Amino acid sequence: MITFALPKGRIFKEVSTLLRQTDFPEFKYEDISRNLVIETDNPGVRLLIVRSQDVPTYVHYGAADIGVVGSDVLDELDSKDVYQPLDLGIGLCRLSVAVRDIDVYMSMLESDVTITIATKYPQQTLEYFCRKGKNVNLVKLYGSIELAPLVELSHAVVDLVSTGNTLKANGLVEVELIKNISSRLIINKASLKLKDNLITEILEGLRLVADEKTTGKTIND
Ligand code: PRP
Repeated sequence: MITFALPKGRIFKEVSTLLRQTDFPEFKYEDISRNLVIETDNPGVRLLIVRSQDVPTYVHYGAADIGVVGSDVLDELDSKDVYQPLDLGIGLCRLSVAVRDIDVYMSMLESDVTITIATKYPQQTLEYFCRKGKNVNLVKLYGSIELAPLVELSHAVVDLVSTGNTLKANGLVEVELIKNISSRLIINKASLKLKDNLITEILEGLRLVADEKTTGKTIND
């Protein structure tokens, strides 16, 4: 039995599509809107639907053998005690600084003023501004980050940007790219030893599909 921990929404759909392109036996499941444990029609495959930030925990403790999680989540963790063999090339977005007014932000950066930044990613935000040699105050939020500058809770935000629509809708502009983000496959270290054949089959299948996606080559080329 292989248990996957997957975040719901767009990533779930993208992972399902990738798995269907491998030789891994296709599995079907019922509507996932409410169920957190999804038994599939393959008795060897079970899916856990968890919050993205919780995927590494489920995999680390062995409640799931395999997980898919954004590099934004992994990079925010102090301990990454899971095997991370593969960038799946899905869930592509970027971690960026966004502000209401670029000129105001640039002059604050160049002055001694401490900039207040709202973010879900305090660790990566601190690392970024430390590298720039700039002191910042952090306001840790758990969602709707773009609201913070609008109500003067912060001067700027550090958040994920995909289409840019959320920033635009809230009158914010992206001013600095911190890093590009993509989803990673993570594997429990004990599962890798105990279920070696099955996990290797899944890993190699996904590696071929992910390579094909990033290089544009098909498996038969
Ligand atoms: C994420 C992110 C941005 C938005 C970016 O939020 O935090 O708010 O998506 O996407 P876009 O550039 O395509 O508009 P999410 O939807 O996960 O909700 P959250 O704000 O509650 O974290």
